[in-house]
Amino acid sequence: MELCRIRTFQKSLLRPLLLLQHAPCRTLQTLGRSPSPSVFRPPRRRPPLLLLLLRSSFASVSPGPAPGSGTGECPPPPPAPLPPDELASDDDAYYHEHILEATQEDQSRLVPVKAYFPCTSINLKSLQSQNSFNVIPPTSRATNYVVLRYYDVKGDPEGFKAGIIDESHCHYMVVFQYGSIVLFNVSDHEADGYLKIVEKHASGLLPEMRKDDYAVVEKPTLETWMQGGLDFIILRDLSIDGIRTIGSVLGQSIALDYYIRQVDGMVAEFTDINRGMEKTGTFTMERKKLFQLVGKANSNLADVILKLGLFERSDIAWKNANYAQIWEYLRDEYELTQRFGNLDFKLKFVERKTRIQASISVDTTNGRWPRGQVPGGIWRVHTGGSEITATPLECGAQDVRSDGGGSATRNFFWSWVKKKQGSMGSKSYPTVSDEYLAAVGKAKRKLRGLIAEKNCAPLMLRLAWHSAGTFDVSSRTGGPFGTMKNPGEQSHAANAGLDIAVRLLDPIKDQLPILSYADFYQLAGVVAVEVTGGPEVPFHPGRQDKPEPPPEGRLPDATQGSDHLRQVFSAQMGLSDKDIVALSGGHTLGRCHKERSGFEGAWTSNPLIFDNSYFTELVSGEKEGLLQLPSDKALMADPAFRPLVEKYAADEDAFFADYAEAHLKLSELGFAEE
Ligand code: HEM
Repeated sequence: MELCRIRTFQKSLLRPLLLLQHAPCRTLQTLGRSPSPSVFRPPRRRPPLLLLLLRSSFASVSPGPAPGSGTGECPPPPPAPLPPDELASDDDAYYHEHILEATQEDQSRLVPVKAYFPCTSINLKSLQSQNSFNVIPPTSRATNYVVLRYYDVKGDPEGFKAGIIDESHCHYMVVFQYGSIVLFNVSDHEADGYLKIVEKHASGLLPEMRKDDYAVVEKPTLETWMQGGLDFIILRDLSIDGIRTIGSVLGQSIALDYYIRQVDGMVAEFTDINRGMEKTGTFTMERKKLFQLVGKANSNLADVILKLGLFERSDIAWKNANYAQIWEYLRDEYELTQRFGNLDFKLKFVERKTRIQASISVDTTNGRWPRGQVPGGIWRVHTGGSEITATPLECGAQDVRSDGGGSATRNFFWSWVKKKQGSMGSKSYPTVSDEYLAAVGKAKRKLRGLIAEKNCAPLMLRLAWHSAGTFDVSSRTGGPFGTMKNPGEQSHAANAGLDIAVRLLDPIKDQLPILSYADFYQLAGVVAVEVTGGPEVPFHPGRQDKPEPPPEGRLPDATQGSDHLRQVFSAQMGLSDKDIVALSGGHTLGRCHKERSGFEGAWTSNPLIFDNSYFTELVSGEKEGLLQLPSDKALMADPAFRPLVEKYAADEDAFFADYAEAHLKLSELGFAEE
């Protein structure tokens, strides 16, 4: 097959840029006319047909040269297509029977679609710059994928000479930044060449590559816009937007499958630990392995939600109801929401298990090991070399229900965190009604959706922090009491841009009139940290809205140093040095906007992921493209702050534990105090 690079479909622009000698023909064909019109049984659900390929280089079958790579070598010619009666399973037979029926219609065209997940990141910029003639310009700037088009010149020399493009000779490749590749109109034997084009722009290559087959039947006579089938979809017309829409769901589905397997692996590891505990009565685990698990559990969900944009409607689906229909149909067919829910559930299980260990690691800062209540008893925790061992001291301990629900394990962790809040004094949380609690639960779910959809976690965290950070311990004024809803407070210079946050939140708040703004804004901060992969910050409801905003000028000034930070955080709010450094780690999210603060840029290269990279960047010094405010630099310059920065840069678990503790304090300044 000869492939040429084309710029666009317009005849005038069509020109062969690079020709490749390939196998002589395309395997695609339009099948002959059928006397009977295609009749479909209702689509039968089945999980996506996934094949696992061992990765040799990037490809599964004999690697051929990349189309357009300029090597001039040929991959082996494609074998004849497999006749339907050679297919193994009933499902496959059913699939072929119906897909054939569909293509037997006059003018129908079968377009095979193949999705691959070979790696966890693809550099779209370099891919685009090296394949610029094949890139189809994106519809919006904010996309996480690129569509490339190739033309099979040899398959259609006449048409090519005449400058008429026949769609059946076009091949498309949709490449996603998070690692998926979806090929349209490419046969199995040509696929390797396309995958090779992407390989040099990929990182995080996986030992096994997953593959999923699907098909589109293009049928101009179709009366409706689309019709679903088993592992195929019939469309009246397959346009670039159709390719984008279908590609986006298939790309997400195959990547999700990879993450589900990862989490299954983690669950299996904990099952092994439990088995060991049953036998020996003690819990033993290699420390390194444990931290790897904690890290994996933390990063997995964030990866899935943020990188894959699982809850983001494709840009095309937003604009056009027909594509929205395809998008929704395919998401349903691939059970994306249910599979994600399942993953979420398993991750929560892993998270619960790892929380105990996170708490253990935190306490090493005091040189003591905690004794605490976990399900099944009170445990003594030992550390020996590289291992952590926990032995039950007494059996039958009760759950600690201190945060209004959740697992005993988590409660153990948080009750222990709270004990460490010596300087805070004890809290006496108000009791709220069941109806109120239900509204908190609903708000949490809606916030997760909003934040994932709008990528607005940084803004939400800033809103919560600026609401709470006005607390003045001596006059007991200001603080997290919902006053930010007031346009007067939004117009304080330090709050520039927070009117957007309030506006984004208003539609949810309108649905939950029972909730106080005070609780709602703080909940938004907690959820922002959680969904971006940060620690779980406990949330206690019951704040009441205050009528008056605080005076302007209580929030820190980014141009100042450590004395000023201590003045604001310690003297005014009543927080500690450790809280200042840990909370500054909130800058792991988001960025500065010139029009809001006068500063421009992000602190880290992954501003939608909550991790310890703010500290690793501080420790490694200034870097082109990243920002450090004078108040950030002050943390490195101050002799008391600096060791904490270094500790958090070296130990993300320590940062998460201290951050959760400090965020909890911040969100409860002036609340529930006896
Ligand atoms: C230590 C004192 C602090 C100073 C001087 C400071 C200053 C700033 C400034 C100047 C911006 C840029 C605003 C813009 O241009 O959009 C910003 C953004 C941000 N700050 Fe802070 N901040 C501090 C502490 C905190 C704390 C304690 C948190 C949370 C725990 C936090 C979370 C954020 C977030 C998430 C953003 C990004 C917002 C966005 O992307 O829209 N900051 N901060």
